Amino acid sequence: MGGGAAVRAHAAPHPALGYPDPRGLPELRGALAAMLARRRGVVADPERLVVCSGVAQASTLLGFVLRARGLRQVGIEDPGSPEHGRLFASTGMETVWLPLDEEGLCPGPLADSGVRAVVVTPSHQFPSGISWSAERRAALLDWARAVDGYVLEDDYDGDFRYDRAPVGALQGLDPERVAYAGSVSKSLAPGMRLGWMLVPEALLDEVVERKRTMDLGNPVLDQAVLAEFVTRGGYDRQLRRCQRAYRERRDALLAALAEHLPGTGVSGIAAGLHVIARVPARFGPQSGSSGGRRRPGRAAAAGGVRHRPAGRRGRAARHRVRAPGAFGRRHGDPAGGGGVGARVTVHAGFARAPHPVVRHGTARRPRPERPTRRLLHVPSRTRRFPSPPAAACCAVRSPRRRR
Ligand SMILES: Cc1ncc(COP(=O)(O)O)c(C=O)c1O
Repeated sequence: MGGGAAVRAHAAPHPALGYPDPRGLPELRGALAAMLARRRGVVADPERLVVCSGVAQASTLLGFVLRARGLRQVGIEDPGSPEHGRLFASTGMETVWLPLDEEGLCPGPLADSGVRAVVVTPSHQFPSGISWSAERRAALLDWARAVDGYVLEDDYDGDFRYDRAPVGALQGLDPERVAYAGSVSKSLAPGMRLGWMLVPEALLDEVVERKRTMDLGNPVLDQAVLAEFVTRGGYDRQLRRCQRAYRERRDALLAALAEHLPGTGVSGIAAGLHVIARVPARFGPQSGSSGGRRRPGRAAAAGGVRHRPAGRRGRAARHRVRAPGAFGRRHGDPAGGGGVGARVTVHAGFARAPHPVVRHGTARRPRPERPTRRLLHVPSRTRRFPSPPAAACCAVRSPRRRR
């Protein structure tokens, strides 16, 4: 995103600064469609791509459209992101939690639920980190066709794969049943509020009309700069840079866990920006307020590495996290229960912390009497290290290479 791009967009003739097509600038839609088809294997028609303010707005756009069509419920992965539920709830839809196992959404409960719309994260399930099996992907699409339903695929971190081949997006298998959403939040900065949704043909007009009445389209200058950045190859370079940095941070976190919290089991490490760590209970939380009963600590307000406690039951927990190995366990639960040999499961995000911080943060081994709140605490003075927004700034400042 060279300075020149911003200047050219700024100096754009007046007509380009009028009210945009609510779907977004044609240049950006074309650039994103080509990039997504190449990188994620989606079926990407620029005419069916809607530029929006992140996956969050894609969710609400779809929610409003489905609600207007008479759907009242949306299925959400359990464990899954509570944010999905909140976003759809804001459109008047009730959320129905649907159980996952190690392969993906369980077909039986899905069929019994009566829902006709679901939100899923099949490439790197949030938060467990599993990649859905081919069978479960096919079963979900069969279900969608059978009930005349729709799937929102949230590809929130689909670009970051470390030890395994990239998994293509679900949308590529049935673009008429799957709406595909992504954003620059993990690659540039969440504050940019720029994302996209590829919309099934049958829903396109309604989604575009909803986008028009919601905000008349995203700001033109932001779109023009991103279009130039993608077209000139800067976005690909930025993804490669992020991939390297995120891999280093992940490796540093894993090494630090092994060194300072021996016996910790980790999963979900092959992709994405967080790991699920099952920490032996001797390092785990203590509760001062619940009669000595062990319970997961609350999320640390950490500047870099963040961890979240695991909910023993996805539905009841504020942060619904269970390790893949703990699916379906309710008693003597190694993911959060308190028996002998119990473990505490934490969700440790490493995206915002460069690896010296990860090492430093994790090295703060909690004293046995202290809760896991301290487990991955990062002192505030380490916040001077660059974070993704800084990475975006670097990208903005880097000299543009001419092709
Ligand atoms: C599961 C999930 N989906 C999507 C997003 C990104 O949302 P947005 O693109 O609106 O920033 C996040 C951000 O942390 C997330 O955790």
